[in-house]
Amino acid sequence: MQTLPIALAKGDGIGPEIMDAVISIFRAAGAPLEFVEVEMGKSVFERGFSSGMTPAAKQLIELTGILFKGPMETPKGKGMKSINVTARKVWNTYANKRVFKSLHGVDTVFSKAGIPINITIVRENIEDTYGGIEHMLTQDVALCRRFITRPGSMQVHRYAFDMAVKKGAKKITCGHKANIMKLTDGLFLECFYEVAKDYPQIEANDVIVDDLAMKLVVKPQEFDVVVLPNLQGDIISDLCAGLVGGLGFAPSANIGDHISIFEAVHGTAPDIAGKDLANPTSLLLSGCMLLRHVGLIQHALRIEEALYLTLQKGIHTRDIARPGAPSYGTKAFAEQIIQHLPASNGNGSVTPQQITYRPPQAPQGNRMMLSGRQESEETVGVDLFVESTDQPSVLAEKIKAVLPEGYALTLISNRGTQVFPYASLFTDCINQYRVRIEADQPSASITQHNMLDLSAKVANVVRLCSIEWLMLYGGKKAYSLAQGQ
Ligand code: NAI
Repeated sequence: MQTLPIALAKGDGIGPEIMDAVISIFRAAGAPLEFVEVEMGKSVFERGFSSGMTPAAKQLIELTGILFKGPMETPKGKGMKSINVTARKVWNTYANKRVFKSLHGVDTVFSKAGIPINITIVRENIEDTYGGIEHMLTQDVALCRRFITRPGSMQVHRYAFDMAVKKGAKKITCGHKANIMKLTDGLFLECFYEVAKDYPQIEANDVIVDDLAMKLVVKPQEFDVVVLPNLQGDIISDLCAGLVGGLGFAPSANIGDHISIFEAVHGTAPDIAGKDLANPTSLLLSGCMLLRHVGLIQHALRIEEALYLTLQKGIHTRDIARPGAPSYGTKAFAEQIIQHLPASNGNGSVTPQQITYRPPQAPQGNRMMLSGRQESEETVGVDLFVESTDQPSVLAEKIKAVLPEGYALTLISNRGTQVFPYASLFTDCINQYRVRIEADQPSASITQHNMLDLSAKVANVVRLCSIEWLMLYGGKKAYSLAQGQ
């Protein structure tokens, strides 16, 4: 029978234990996969590979297109980027799909109340504050740039809608904070409704993320597929994990056009590592997502059924054992799942299944994703981020004194709150202001060069921390107003 090579990284902490348990179940279920181990994680960092993976690991993952990974530890305080986030980003796994389903035998408030939960979260996986682009603007002020892009948002929404159609979902909800972050979350939301037009069979709605958190706790049964920006998706998906019994029951797939990564949502659990106590369920369910991804749906169904039967009989690892009931170790729990594997065709053998997955062709260059928008573009001013301990009115006078003719100081804000031309004395300030300079007359020509000259003049009286251009796209302001403006 045809077997499919899959790159396998066992991970750190409890990783090897839960991965061995999962592989033993896959083998018993006759999954035609050939797991090829690659070196990634803590020990690789320690050997001096700053990316946390060896070149051979990278090569094999890019060849097979699929990585099945255990949780991994990134050494703390050594300036290394998380291997988990790096892997998702460099291979452009733009959609993080996490499935949260009530499992028979796992007691939760909702299972006891007879409320079934079946929520799929699609979390944008590349952008947002996870870009990790951070700077200290002054010794007191840290800034993180939050990227939300039109092509990136379209890509993840399209994945979410396609997946919703395959799942037979009736409803898809976009979680966001567009009421506050009008440009970033506003763009994410705008793209959601743009994609929704192509899927009239699915009801599309949106909910502000704080309201979403409340509604998920009060009426989780009303949600089906939920799509969110990266950070909000991270938080909301852990909330959903709590609804179905905890992170131990949350599988996760990071889906890209070329490479996909399947992993448990939880970490390396160093407190229980090496003690045969870890629950392999999350990794097993992630493995079942992998099986579906490559077309081995019957294998996934059999393994899931065996898991559900095992849990239903009260066979539990320590983390979810009922009070007073005995618990099973990782290995014994896996053996129980193997014992409960149902025969697929009634005579004990597995129905042969076709692998539909084909490893990807490596891209020849970096794809440039463009939305194709061609609206007019106009530079109308500049926001200068400056360091100063002056009172706002004093700073304003200093700036005005160096402004060339044709430009006006239109705003100073501190932590996003307007302090010039109007200031409330109740606004506490820190030593970093945003200074907005715009053309004095609408007809004034503004080029990036004369804005840079102007910025250099301002730099003579105050230290510049950062510069952002003020743009009009299609005549509309492409920058936010200050609070109170
Ligand atoms: P964690 O998820 O490893 O542990 C949190 C708590 O949950 C601990 O009490 C742990 O014993 C328990 N737990 C987690 N998984 C379990 C399982 N399968 N069975 C039973 N109990 C389980 O989170 P923590 O402690 O914040 O992180 C530990 C390390 O894991 C860190 O180095 C972190 O960076 C890394 N990590 C890696 C991830 C990944 O590889 N995708 C994700 C999250 C954290």
